Amino acid sequence: MKVIAGNWKMHMGPAEARAFLGGLNVEAVPFDRQLILFPPSLTLVSLAADPARDGRVRVGVQNIHWEDQGAFTGEVSAPMAAECGATFALIGHSERRHVFGETDEEVALKAAAARRHGLVPVICVGETLSERQAGHVDEVILRQLDAVIPELREAEHALIAYEPVWAIGTGETATPQDASAAHTTLRRRLVDALGPKKADATAILYGGSVKPGNAAELLSAPEVDGVLVGGASLDPHSFAQIAAAGA
Ligand code: PGA
Repeated sequence: MKVIAGNWKMHMGPAEARAFLGGLNVEAVPFDRQLILFPPSLTLVSLAADPARDGRVRVGVQNIHWEDQGAFTGEVSAPMAAECGATFALIGHSERRHVFGETDEEVALKAAAARRHGLVPVICVGETLSERQAGHVDEVILRQLDAVIPELREAEHALIAYEPVWAIGTGETATPQDASAAHTTLRRRLVDALGPKKADATAILYGGSVKPGNAAELLSAPEVDGVLVGGASLDPHSFAQIAAAGA
């Protein structure tokens, strides 16, 4: 089973999402591919309830606050997202970390909130270009992973997304070898911290300029259990092509 997730970021209002579902040919996607869409919160409400949404397309929220409710203008909480039909929560995406200053501690608190409310956390990790050039890839991604290990121990189910910051939205993609190397580092830490059974059940996705043209080789790289797609997930045809790639 490979996971094909689409992160719409701040794109796609409810009408565009409806049109996307209308254009998404789920039949062309093999059954061993799990599909997840992460729409903006306002769109999530109608997308999750849309009768045109095939049951194979799961829905996730892009970000949550760690508190269940309170005076946090502009935020949404895990129980609200769950009530609206989300079953996954993207946590610590690089834009949250680097544009909005989210820390490892906040990422851990958000992972806890997701778990409390039955949302499967998709924890994003990844190094910047300067961290890669300085040879600090493993150090950075393990620090980010270690921050959520206590939560992963508690969580029934979780996913990790390795998204090198320099590959996100830039057209630069990690080579399948780079992706496999980082995923192997993460997998080893998961095995040490969670034991082999739980580590094996934790899918590690690659994200960063995944397109129809490079999806097959990334999806077949060792330790790559799926992909998290930004730009190319906005078009139903390219998303379906990625979802079927290499199958
Ligand atoms: P991209 O975004 O595919 O547009 O590079 C990936 C992501 O940010 O999840």
